[in-house]
Amino acid sequence: MFREVSKILAKSSMAIAFTGAGISAESGIPTFRGKDGLWRKYRAEELATPEAFKRDPKLVWEFYKWRIKKILEARPNPAHIALAEMEKMGIIKAVITQNVDDLHKEAGSINVIELHGNIFRIKCTSCSYREYLKETGRIEWLLSQELPKCPNCGSFLRPDVVWFGEALPEKELTTAFSLAKKADVVLVVGTSGVVYPAAYIPYIVKESGGIVVEVNIEPSSITPIADFFLRGKAGEILPRLVGEIRRYLNE
Ligand code: APR
Ligand code: ZN
Repeated sequence: MFREVSKILAKSSMAIAFTGAGISAESGIPTFRGKDGLWRKYRAEELATPEAFKRDPKLVWEFYKWRIKKILEARPNPAHIALAEMEKMGIIKAVITQNVDDLHKEAGSINVIELHGNIFRIKCTSCSYREYLKETGRIEWLLSQELPKCPNCGSFLRPDVVWFGEALPEKELTTAFSLAKKADVVLVVGTSGVVYPAAYIPYIVKESGGIVVEVNIEPSSITPIADFFLRGKAGEILPRLVGEIRRYLNE
């Protein structure tokens, strides 16, 4: 199966990747619905909804600051690096991710579409103020604030991530759907495929005649439509795929 999948990827003209929390699990970042998943320990309704932020912004910020610290301790793992390599080889044209951890870019991926935002970006709850903390070098400042305020209008700042019940960023969603319509292969890595509209991506590829290759440690909601299911850890499987693709291209 590895050989077959590598051949398909090597010969593809428009391959994309679609990733979820599972690709960052081996970097030490908890997934959401796995055994030690965040939503097993904490109630999403109390931490990741606009209502929760209205009710108790301090609690929500405590949670996001905890996640930021955890992500700052993490490094991209061989799965992130393999996708960046596949982009450099001209195989993967874009990485569409549900993750907010910035690890794809840290690994060197260029064309990354963040459907659920980015935990290192903040935005104002009133005015149009936005800030990418990695660019402004203010991560430590944010972590020191109990309730960060907008430098423009003084209102509360919030993480620029998509909370449950909120619409996805339009530009990113439109770009992702149009890539999915054109794709001849999608590499689905480490997602349970239960959160929409992101989870439509593999179905759009399938309906447009493309091939769905899934990498996961266990079957997910996407497995029934997968043409190939590579069971195992992304950090082990994706580097192997890169090796096979190289072998095939050098034959
Ligand atoms: N390699 C491959 N897959 C893995 C690994 C691994 N090392 N570890 C876990 N997985 C798989 C799990 O089997 C599971 O199917 O990753 C998936 C993670 O699923 P979720 O925790 O549901 O995460 P995700 O699909 O990204 O969640 C979607 O839900 O909470 C919201 O906005 C949040 O973006 C998130 C969205
Ligand atoms: Zn403001």
